[in-house]
Amino acid sequence: MKTISFYDTKPYDRDYMLAAAGAAELTWRFHEFRLTAETAATAAGSDAVCVFVNDKLDRDCLQQLAANGVRHAALRCAGFNQVDLAAAKEFGIAITRVPAYSPHAVAEHSVALLLTLNRKIHRAHNRVREFNFSLAGLVGFDLHGKTVGIIGTGKIGRCTAQIFRGFGCHVLAYDPAPSVEWGSENQIGYSSLDDVLAQSDILSLHLPLTKDTHHLLNGRSLAQMKRGAYLVNTSRGKLVDTTALIEVLKNGHLGGVALDVYEEEEGIFFEDHSEHGLLEDDELSRLLSFPNVLVTSHQAFLTKEALDEIARVTVTNLRHHMTEQPFLDSSVL
Ligand code: NAI
Repeated sequence: MKTISFYDTKPYDRDYMLAAAGAAELTWRFHEFRLTAETAATAAGSDAVCVFVNDKLDRDCLQQLAANGVRHAALRCAGFNQVDLAAAKEFGIAITRVPAYSPHAVAEHSVALLLTLNRKIHRAHNRVREFNFSLAGLVGFDLHGKTVGIIGTGKIGRCTAQIFRGFGCHVLAYDPAPSVEWGSENQIGYSSLDDVLAQSDILSLHLPLTKDTHHLLNGRSLAQMKRGAYLVNTSRGKLVDTTALIEVLKNGHLGGVALDVYEEEEGIFFEDHSEHGLLEDDELSRLLSFPNVLVTSHQAFLTKEALDEIARVTVTNLRHHMTEQPFLDSSVL
């Protein structure tokens, strides 16, 4: 029997993971808190840890895990910017992830955010519930004929681009490793980042967070965007410099911003802070005060299909480690 310490547990994680594990020889220790250097001691006696996007597997944390006998960290997500991979290698901890669970889940949420924001569905919903049936202030724009810029045409970026093509949008993409054949099959052209920034009415980010992509959208690049353009970020918060974003919202340069991720979301997103009635993060509070900003709490992945697949692949990765079988190539980092 192998023991898995499971961090940042939500009720749906537990349900889907236990269903996927079935009668597998795994003992689960579900923790609601996140795994960080401060909490790493709680993994003592475990063979593996299972973590999500806001756990923090830095050098200090990984060193403690190794000292406590942990040999595998199974990420139940695709992104892996929360892990110091070099340190994991040094301490002999295998890192696996779920490289693709449902790109459709994230792509569809990106488009849902944009449609909600543009057509002001969230505001309309609140109004009619108070029997206010006025349309004042609810004017949106047609997506048909608009230019959508997709930054990063991996699995999610390609799905998102194709949905926008279905709306009759022109899609322009930037990716240092372009999928040229896919682009020509879908009438999607690649261009430089500068060009995509300058031409897009809507810009949607679908690239990983790395040292090179940190603050890809900063004061300079945000200023390159068309006046009145909409920005959608369902990838990672740190791709966007929040201070600069607030500036372009204040001066009216951007028409709207839809975010499923936020630069400093750790410790805020996924939690209920409503009882305190106070948000200590001033920049998030400022963002939430703009009528043309829509924020969801990193929920783009949250569909039944994605949760099933995340649980299935994570349990497979844990089993493979347990039985010393090689990992699926696509899961290993
Ligand atoms: P992927 O690995 O299939 O594609 C990423 C693409 O980005 C690749 O084509 C790569 O060449 C490109 N890229 C790398 N550096 C770039 C740069 N500097 N500029 C433009 N493109 C660049 O990844 P996938 O599955 O499409 O996921 C994309 C991102 O979505 C993930 O890295 C993750 O951060 C985020 N994500 C968010 C979720 C959510 O719930 N909000 C859930 C799952 C993923």
